[in-house]
Amino acid sequence: MNLNSEIWAAAPETEPERQYYFIEVCKKQVAEEREKLGRPLTFCVTTFGCQMNARDSEKLTGILEQIGYQPTEEDTADFVIYNTCTVRENANLKVYGHLGLLKHRKKENPHMKIALCGCMMQEPEVVAKLKQSYRFVDLVFGTHNIFKFAELLAESMENGSMIVDIWKDTQEIVEELPIERKYSFKSGVNIMFGCNNFCSYCIVPYVRGRERSRKPEDIIKEIEKLAADGVTEVMLLGQNVNSYGKNLETPMTFAELLREVEKIDGIRRIRFMTSHPKDLSDELIQVMKESRKICRHLHLPLQSGSSRILKAMNRRYTKEQYLELAEKIRREIPDISLTTDIIVGFPGETDEDFEETLDVVRKVHYDNAYTFIYSRRTGTPAASMENQVSEADNKVRFDKLLKLVQDCAREQTARYTGTVQEVLIEEVNDHRPGYVTGRMSNNLLVHFPGEASQIGQYVNVSLDECKGFYFMGTIV
Ligand code: SAH
Ligand code: SF4
Ligand code: F3S
Repeated sequence: MNLNSEIWAAAPETEPERQYYFIEVCKKQVAEEREKLGRPLTFCVTTFGCQMNARDSEKLTGILEQIGYQPTEEDTADFVIYNTCTVRENANLKVYGHLGLLKHRKKENPHMKIALCGCMMQEPEVVAKLKQSYRFVDLVFGTHNIFKFAELLAESMENGSMIVDIWKDTQEIVEELPIERKYSFKSGVNIMFGCNNFCSYCIVPYVRGRERSRKPEDIIKEIEKLAADGVTEVMLLGQNVNSYGKNLETPMTFAELLREVEKIDGIRRIRFMTSHPKDLSDELIQVMKESRKICRHLHLPLQSGSSRILKAMNRRYTKEQYLELAEKIRREIPDISLTTDIIVGFPGETDEDFEETLDVVRKVHYDNAYTFIYSRRTGTPAASMENQVSEADNKVRFDKLLKLVQDCAREQTARYTGTVQEVLIEEVNDHRPGYVTGRMSNNLLVHFPGEASQIGQYVNVSLDECKGFYFMGTIV
């Protein structure tokens, strides 16, 4: 520890007070630096991966803005932060690519700071590689100690060399730290962290640790605060929201939590991500059905349609159980939009297995599906399985699946043509001047004439023309 020992000794022991203390320490440093440079210091956080990472980046941004950094584009930023993902190999490769470019920039601008955090940093091989070949990186931390960002930054400002702080796991959940939202009118809300499912292909449980649910009162308090601040749509976040609350002191189901969130004044839309099919209860379907606020959208990852492959994936449902569940949901909530994730080329997948996947897609007729080619992740059980599928086979299967998925999605989308839907206006349209983009309850997008001042408003829009996966419309 190189940090001035007096400053260090005076730091509170408890959280979040300790982090607010280090925010003040950093603030002084940044103010001095600003004085010297004669201009404000700037930062840019680049986020890879899922909604969970996006929310984490808002936490990093909240702290940086309190410290006195101003947001800017990456190529002019004094402080560049990459919040990384490692779910598939290509997510990793992207980060190394970016780092190569940053190395040159830092040579020309030695005062620049570079930090890496997120899921990829939880992999020991990655950290070893960074320590060896990327010494110009100033700060490396992981998913479990992101709350310590201010403290690590204070340390890094004092100490010129690379700081690496990675925790293996944690039980700690630090509440009440600053957060700067990307959107004024909607927000993600973590309801749980980590994952206990260990699907055999997936690295997330290794890099995000064991499942921990936030206390319902903390979640409700956060959403009430968001509502008071103008947020009308919340997305409840967890790797498997359907197992929410199982390990709380007073256990609570996800459906019960939804009922509580529904009561909060000012919140008009509730979304959630992600639902594991094995834990999706009748109680949840009932709550969704009765709710006026829960959006008509359910993301229900399939991964594979072959019961044999599902078993090897450790998904703990069969093709038949999945189909039964999807049918029940469509029956109970007919206007629901069903979306999914599918992996092609899991080790041992045959053409017959793949046909089963196509069969499920045809039967469920998804409104949208994210398709991925299996990526071998070091340390997961599937990585050491025999019969890894060849790249050529994967390519053929992937293209075939993509075509089917897109055909289904187009048909599903088209059935809304000519209807009027309530949409939340999210942004001005980048491609078409004078247009804005709104999102429907079922997650579909529509573009229509409007202006920036309408962002955050709910309006009724007539869906005049279907463009495949989105609509062109007019406000009615
Ligand atoms: N917790 C979520 C998924 C998080 S990861 C769930 O269980 O649904 C998002 C998606 O990435 C997964 O649904 C899966 O389809 C895909 N994925 C995860 N690991 C992968 C791998 N090794 N190769 C390819 N795709 C993968
Ligand atoms: Fe990965 Fe499975 Fe956990 Fe989802 S449920 S994060 S796919 S291990
Ligand atoms: Fe990626 Fe981590 Fe999310 S590995 S998908 S950013 S939990």
